[in-house]
Amino acid sequence: MKHYLTVQDIDSAGEWIDLARELKKDPFKFKEVGNGKTIGLLFFNNSLRTRLSTQKAAFHLGMHCMIMNFSNEGWALEFEDGTIMDQGKAEHIREAAQVVSQYCDVLGVRAFASLTDKEMDEAETVINGFKKYASIPILNMESATGHPLQALADLITITENTHKKNPKVVLSWAPHPKALPHAVANSFVEVMRQNSQINFSITHPKGYELNPEITKDVPIIYDQDKALEEADFVYVKNWSSYSSYGKVLSTDPQWMITKEKLGKAQFMHCLPVRRNVVVEDAVLNGNQSLVMEQANNRTYAAQVALLNILKEL
Ligand code: CP
Repeated sequence: MKHYLTVQDIDSAGEWIDLARELKKDPFKFKEVGNGKTIGLLFFNNSLRTRLSTQKAAFHLGMHCMIMNFSNEGWALEFEDGTIMDQGKAEHIREAAQVVSQYCDVLGVRAFASLTDKEMDEAETVINGFKKYASIPILNMESATGHPLQALADLITITENTHKKNPKVVLSWAPHPKALPHAVANSFVEVMRQNSQINFSITHPKGYELNPEITKDVPIIYDQDKALEEADFVYVKNWSSYSSYGKVLSTDPQWMITKEKLGKAQFMHCLPVRRNVVVEDAVLNGNQSLVMEQANNRTYAAQVALLNILKEL
């Protein structure tokens, strides 16, 4: 059984990108593949793009789609084994996952990091709970530590917007008033590392180092201006501190991306984005922004991931 849980599940980036580009030209090319199959999408957190693009991808493949906002519609779930369930949690993951498996053929799950319990977040308690107890493939729609559908859409977007063999891509931290998870940045780093022809580096203030097991030998440049020199793509994202887990250590507006900082590079962001905090209006409104292309590619990234799952069912 194939899952799509991390970017490591992309078995051939070249083939997946080619397929996504083919699907953009002819979205219903494989409309029979999901015929008679049902996908369930469980959201423990808010979404715009992931919810609609995954639903659209399922529609293109002929699948029936059921969506549940689990955090306010489902029973509060218990994930620990052996717990005496006499408090607020009404249902155990063992029953919930098995029940959903009887109604669906594929299950998408969105469950963000708590940012308060590093051990629980790194264990991916929610998505791994469904993986363990469900009997159907799981699609990661952003978990505590990764957002592989976003990373695949981003890789497709970069490929479509460069003719260079070795484009320079910089992931830049930007300020944000709230503590945000590491998932988007982690998966972007991983997908860049997998594609070694890309000249990839990261820039952020000291204290914002991502998990070193993910960044490994990727160059980290603490001087943002220096890092952005001659960049072809600047991928901008806020994340909270990893070492001081979940803390906001800086909201320094000097790190906001401006048109001047961007230079000739193309701007990327997964959205949603806070205007004039993360990036100034002039960048988002200008023709160097790829954010709409990234959002559009979410549909085809989801469609490729689903095709990969469906071919094993
Ligand atoms: N980029 C992204 O995942 O958007 P949503 O949170 O709106 O789904």
